[in-house]
Amino acid sequence: TANTMWGGRFAAGPDAIMEAINASIGFDQRMAAQDIAGSRAHAAMLGAVGIITTSDAETIREGLLTVLSEIEAGTFEFSTALEDIHMNVEARLKEVIGEPAGRLHTGRSRNDQVATDFKLWVRDQLDAAEAGLLALIDALLAQAEAGADWVMPGFTHLQTAQPVTWGHHMMAYVEMLGRDLSRVRDARARMNECPLGAAALAGTSFPIDREMTAQALGFDRPAANSLDAVSDRDFALEFLGVASICAMHLSRFAEELVIWSSAQFRFVTLSDRFSTGSSIMPQKKNPDAAELIRAKVGRIMGANVGLMMVMKGLPLAYSKDMQEDKEQVFDAADNWMLALAAMEGMVRDMTANRESLAAAAGAGFSTATDLADWLVRVLGMPFRDAHHVTGSLVAMAEAKGCDLPDLSLADMQSVHSDITDAVFDVLGVQNSVNSRMSYGGTAPAQVRAQVKRWREVLK
Ligand code: ARG
Repeated sequence: TANTMWGGRFAAGPDAIMEAINASIGFDQRMAAQDIAGSRAHAAMLGAVGIITTSDAETIREGLLTVLSEIEAGTFEFSTALEDIHMNVEARLKEVIGEPAGRLHTGRSRNDQVATDFKLWVRDQLDAAEAGLLALIDALLAQAEAGADWVMPGFTHLQTAQPVTWGHHMMAYVEMLGRDLSRVRDARARMNECPLGAAALAGTSFPIDREMTAQALGFDRPAANSLDAVSDRDFALEFLGVASICAMHLSRFAEELVIWSSAQFRFVTLSDRFSTGSSIMPQKKNPDAAELIRAKVGRIMGANVGLMMVMKGLPLAYSKDMQEDKEQVFDAADNWMLALAAMEGMVRDMTANRESLAAAAGAGFSTATDLADWLVRVLGMPFRDAHHVTGSLVAMAEAKGCDLPDLSLADMQSVHSDITDAVFDVLGVQNSVNSRMSYGGTAPAQVRAQVKRWREVLK
């Protein structure tokens, strides 16, 4: 039988395969609440400007609440024949309230309807991401504050470079996630224009009030071009772009946690709550949450690329290709939120092993730069010469199988006779980090200042 929504010009119903490829109800039912909010705003506006009677508008608005409660209760029967959430809701509304239901779609199309619903859905996810980021940043600030002066090795090329503080390392992620937060807020502000009322593509001849619906749905303003309003999926792409960058940050941190929790590093102990065991090896405690977070960027970035490819050659305005926007965004959003929450839990629970961190901080000639700086500062040597002298001392220590502070003054003086006892002060890791007081440096005082600044910023 022909379709109840557009059957007028059709003699036959769709092939089963056509129905299967066409239907989006299997996934777009996740936008039910947004669809009903959009329809309720549209109905109120139609009544307010006199396009339908206020009594019909009220009946529609009430009926939509009934439909929403059925969906929320899980008693709603979604129909593939009715293709998508928009037509499922409208068809059920007809069953619930009868004739006035047919007036709801006046001055509107599924094209502006779906763009509005999807924007509302993505906007909610940006709000959820903001909350997730704030919680994770808060957990990192607590770690940074507790360990503002704990020394650990800083790496380049994953080779020991210079000592840093635990707090400084945590605060590096606060900076990254702070930028993610700012990107989330930018994206939200930019996307917050309402497509509703663009109708199919050209606007409508009905005297609709787009300011009213935009306001009712929490948008800043109606989108200014009807063709753009129904064609635009930038907001979803930007969401995925922001999510991808954030997931990349989470992935880098997750990788560090995987390394740090290994027996070879022992920098951190992850809580039982955020670890798993092995079914064969009884000793195992695996950082699965970190590994899965590390992996999430793959599917999130995949969604970003996937949707970009869907959109890239589409002529204006709506094409059915655009129905392929949702699943990828839904999946990316779910996994982004999960990754944020799991990372927050892991960070709150994890214990930094202060002794292991300190022991590793001094290994690998990590204060060699401090020694070279001392030669420059105290002996007035050009840095390049100081670098060379220090290199010889490192080679000597390596040959002797000891660290720099273990060399005797006589050893030191055999390489450069002007070196004095005072040099040993700068070879200690705590002194090393304490001395790095340049703005943004690793000194505990700098770290504490940054923790304080972030707490102010986020207040
Ligand atoms: N299910 C469709 C989607 O998700 C709704 C819009 C359909 N519009 C149309 N002109 N066929 O994109």
